[in-house]
Amino acid sequence: MGTQLAANAARFGLFYAVNRALDRQAKRLGQRPAYKPKRAVPAQRELMASLGQVLLADADAVGRGLYAAAEPDPDGLTGAVARVREMFAEFPEALARREAADAGSARFETGADGLPDYYVQDFHFQGGGYLSERSARIYDVQVETLFYGAAQAMRRSALRFVGEAIAGRDQRRLALLDIACGTGRLLRDMRLAWPALGLTGLDLSAVYLSEARRHMGSLRSANFIEGNAEAIPLPDASQDIVTCVFLFHELPPAVRRVVAAEIARVLKPGGALVFVDSLQMGDKPGWDGLLEAVPVRFHEP
Ligand SMILES: C[S@@+](CC[C@H](N)C(=O)[O-])C[C@H]1O[C@@H](n2cnc3c(N)ncnc32)[C@H](O)[C@@H]1O
Repeated sequence: MGTQLAANAARFGLFYAVNRALDRQAKRLGQRPAYKPKRAVPAQRELMASLGQVLLADADAVGRGLYAAAEPDPDGLTGAVARVREMFAEFPEALARREAADAGSARFETGADGLPDYYVQDFHFQGGGYLSERSARIYDVQVETLFYGAAQAMRRSALRFVGEAIAGRDQRRLALLDIACGTGRLLRDMRLAWPALGLTGLDLSAVYLSEARRHMGSLRSANFIEGNAEAIPLPDASQDIVTCVFLFHELPPAVRRVVAAEIARVLKPGGALVFVDSLQMGDKPGWDGLLEAVPVRFHEP
């Protein structure tokens, strides 16, 4: 537990500092006052305590042998610092996009056919949404900055349930599909934990999939598919386990139903779905104001 806890604490410290620095830069750039939610928001202390619990739970699970410790990023600290610098360089443009979105324009031309309407927008105020190389490069540091370094531990909370689904079975005979795998952070952790598991990652973004491939580093790779979760290009009852992390909060309600039906279709009878997503309104007393602010501050549904 000790090493993982120390690594989580270091990550928290690093991204806490980056978060504060970004906040100061926003003020220097004359960002308009932050949106004031009508519903209650938790005190900063409560928020930090909750993040601390996530980081502790991750270290505790590693300590109890439930899953493997996180390994340093294949890019190393230098790579992470370069991406943080790139995020700072892009920040004035992101702020400008936020102003533009407040004024009602958040869509862009992709030049690509067949992408769903809800997808073609600058999620998180990233230029080109999920379709630009720069957004794929800085996505992870952006998310870690937002969650003070706890995003990977949040994702990793899926691992104990994946482990339960694998327990007592031969991993070489099991197929796992990670839907909307993004830059492949969960796939990498799953590969570290289960080297022989049959892993597939599906995402609509070719550039995010390239990052995911790169993040597997020297580990055995996964099978990557560029495709839409609304029509998963895999046979019925072909997967033992499906994981889906941080996708549904970005989908319109009608699309969520379609994707849920696709998950049911590709899972084998008795297969496991491991699902991680955001808090919902009413889940936690005094936190609804945060959920009210997210769409405005980070351009998400
Ligand atoms: C918030 S990111 C989450 C990525 C990753 N699961 C993680 O833990 O960071 C959402 C991802 O969903 C993908 N996505 C959104 N709509 C999709 C769809 N209809 N089909 C496949 N991928 C989709 C995006 O390209 C993006 O990579």
